[in-house]
Amino acid sequence: MVWKPGHVLQDGKYIIEEKLGEGGFGITYLASDRSNNFVVIKTLNEKIQNRRNFAKCQQDFLNEALRLAKCAHPHIVGIHELIQEESLWCMVIEYIDGIDLATLVDNEGALPEPEALHYIQQIGEALCAVHRQGFLHRDIKPLNILLRTEQEEAVLIDFGLAREFTPNLTQIHTEYISKGFAPIEQYDRRSLRGAYTDVYGLAATLYALLTAEIPEASPTRDRQVNRHQNDPLVPPKQFNPEISERVNAAILEGMALEPENRPQTIPAWFNLLGIELNSTVSEPAVVSKVSEPAVFSPQWTSAVGMDYSRLRDFLAAGNWQEADRETAAIMLRVYGREKEGRFSIEDIQKFPCRDLRTIDKLWLEHSNGYFSFSVQNQVWKSVEKNYEAFGEIIGWRRGNSWISYSELIFNLTAPEGHLPSWGRRGRLWSAFAKRIEECG
Ligand SMILES: Nc1ncnc2c1ncn2[C@@H]1O[C@H](COP(=O)(O)OP(=O)(O)O)[C@@H](O)[C@H]1O
Ligand SMILES: [Mg+2]
Repeated sequence: MVWKPGHVLQDGKYIIEEKLGEGGFGITYLASDRSNNFVVIKTLNEKIQNRRNFAKCQQDFLNEALRLAKCAHPHIVGIHELIQEESLWCMVIEYIDGIDLATLVDNEGALPEPEALHYIQQIGEALCAVHRQGFLHRDIKPLNILLRTEQEEAVLIDFGLAREFTPNLTQIHTEYISKGFAPIEQYDRRSLRGAYTDVYGLAATLYALLTAEIPEASPTRDRQVNRHQNDPLVPPKQFNPEISERVNAAILEGMALEPENRPQTIPAWFNLLGIELNSTVSEPAVVSKVSEPAVFSPQWTSAVGMDYSRLRDFLAAGNWQEADRETAAIMLRVYGREKEGRFSIEDIQKFPCRDLRTIDKLWLEHSNGYFSFSVQNQVWKSVEKNYEAFGEIIGWRRGNSWISYSELIFNLTAPEGHLPSWGRRGRLWSAFAKRIEECG
């Protein structure tokens, strides 16, 4: 289903004006509403509509919309509503009247440093809001930043509509990757993404704004080329001598090939640039692979030397299923029960409080208090320790029977307390709940 100009949606609420673009997954239309105002309508493209797993794709699409709605920010495009047209869900998005930064640079050449930094600051603040929601943009580039006409106001669009959302894809489709703006980890399905992934895209965007050149693309890991050894990134200052030393150096650091060599968060990168963050904006929740001791170590403790960084990264990326699996694996590892694959009641009664608190805190923080053992314990107490009633409320039981693992819901449409799913091992739950209580 592709709509032609004049096509009527929602009984005349919207009329398609033209197709604006089509990417690997999405298709974007300009439309007008009854008062003749423009809106933008985005939905899944025909290729995806014909896939066997279309229903799952739509679910991911709707979750993406939900997350975008949670990221309301002056420099993030607003979402008006979701509509279902025949069988197809669509996002109705605020129309931004203006050009994108790629076109601006094409028309006018490299931007003066203060102007470029002005837009980068706005988009960086928008990204902090995104990261605080535990979400990544993953496609930061000049083409996805629009300027409101005559307002010097940059607006971030194109929220990873389904980008990287096909879980069974083992190979990355490089044609969907924005060459020059995508870091090396985006070429490898197994690599972790974090706030540092968007740091790379934003640094590359600044590079392009100041030089009117597309930066050299990251090599793919499987070719084992090292951009810095064989094909070093040309410093932006070489194209434009007016770029200050400080900004030149900050761009090169933000575009470091390996994620661990980059500033790990937008605020950390802004520090290098000498940009002050708006005071209302705090450190984002999406954290990086390499922990920053001052921020993370005191609360991430383990009595048995466990490393919680993988769990943290899955949670930060909103990858609830992997986080759930990792939690179960950690629980076994903490007690050295990987081989048996199961716990005894005695184990539960001795589970180290420090580790329990760390796991709980990680889940709580990254789900905004939605998923965690302590949320489950609240529900448990509220139903006076009736395991079946407890299961109904947190969604482990449906229609009078316990659901299987594959029926669990790994997104925020799940009932509160649905995850982690570890306590589904029936008879252990009440001992575990007691331990949660003891550990405070
Ligand atoms: N809210 C918007 N206001 C105005 N134009 C938009 C808006 N969203 C997208 N566009 C235009 O449509 C193009 C494609 O939309 P985008 O969301 O970037 O999807 P994709 O890159 O996946 O095709 C953009 O490059 C931009 O020119
Ligand atoms: Mg785009």
